Amino acid sequence: MTLILGIESSCDETAASVVENGRIVHSNIVASQDALHIEYGGVVPEIASRAHLERILPVVSQSIEKANIDLKDIDAIAVGNRPGLIGSLLVGVAAAKTLAWSLEKPLITVDHVIAHLWAPFLSGCEVEYPALGVVVSGGHTSLLLLHDANTVTCLGKTIDDAAGEAFDKAASILGLGWPGGALIDKAAASGSPVYRLPRPKTKGDRPDFSFSGLKTALLYGVRGNPFRKDGKIVFPKTVSDLETKDICNWAASFQHAAVDSIMNGIQHALEHNVVRCVVAGGGVLANSLLRKQLETLASRYNIQIHLPDFEYCVDNAAMIAGLGYHLFKNGHRDQLNVTASPKGIAS
Ligand code: KG4
Ligand code: ZN
Repeated sequence: MTLILGIESSCDETAASVVENGRIVHSNIVASQDALHIEYGGVVPEIASRAHLERILPVVSQSIEKANIDLKDIDAIAVGNRPGLIGSLLVGVAAAKTLAWSLEKPLITVDHVIAHLWAPFLSGCEVEYPALGVVVSGGHTSLLLLHDANTVTCLGKTIDDAAGEAFDKAASILGLGWPGGALIDKAAASGSPVYRLPRPKTKGDRPDFSFSGLKTALLYGVRGNPFRKDGKIVFPKTVSDLETKDICNWAASFQHAAVDSIMNGIQHALEHNVVRCVVAGGGVLANSLLRKQLETLASRYNIQIHLPDFEYCVDNAAMIAGLGYHLFKNGHRDQLNVTASPKGIAS
């Protein structure tokens, strides 16, 4: 039995988890910072890193307690050290290095984006390679060709906003709140996609994504075309001019357009690459329409699509411990002078 302690702090979740043999989750503690960032309508990096500092040790202690083990029972410590907000990453990395040094246990650094694709393993999936990896989250929208669990070629990615970021901005345009993905999903359930919004495509052969034009189209659709008045840009309407039904219809229209864009990229990648299955991860995989469309795609292409359970879609440390286990078994070790990086393989 191999027990890995995973640590995650790349954005605004402070998380620690104990996972056995890469699959059996003994604890999965996630301290969300949503309440701290809500008034700004997005993650404020300085606030995030300070909050990580306050929470990291209690979160690690809780994960050990919940797993009903002692720190010395851990075989190795895995930490997400790339990509992400550098100040936030550094807190998790410093904690992991300190634990590795003081406990004399191996340290393993993990790419956060690739770790999202370990999440389906935690839900009992068996992934066969080569696989198409689909990461759709608040910070990333990437299509990866997975040669094995940690060896990837980037096939395509967003050239501007990430899909989750676009959901968050759309929710803000519609006055729904933050973080917006789940709120758009909920509002869309009471609406219909009656408004035409673009399905942006990037030029060229790569299945890249672009979401900023869609977001602008939603803004202009909801608030009318802007004009200049006294040197300022003003919109003819505000969101409070809309009826609740209309907000739900806009949410449904946006959700359909965003999900169509994601699905177009996935289809393109499937048609140009030979893969044995699709494996997906990231917060936007919690979206009901995206999950439904992926199921339809699976039967149309006669291919298995492995999705994580909801609790493993958003950022968590169990996926870090899981991928850490794979690397540990393959002899991967990091030195204590390893550091964090805002860039990863797919960013
Ligand atoms: O994976 P994650 O925690 O973030 C990064 O690693 O970047 O994902 C968070 C993102 C947020 O943008 C949130 O709005 C989005 O996932 N999200 C959703 C849903 N639930 C969360 N987006 C669409 N539909 C949902 N149901
Ligand atoms: Zn993530």
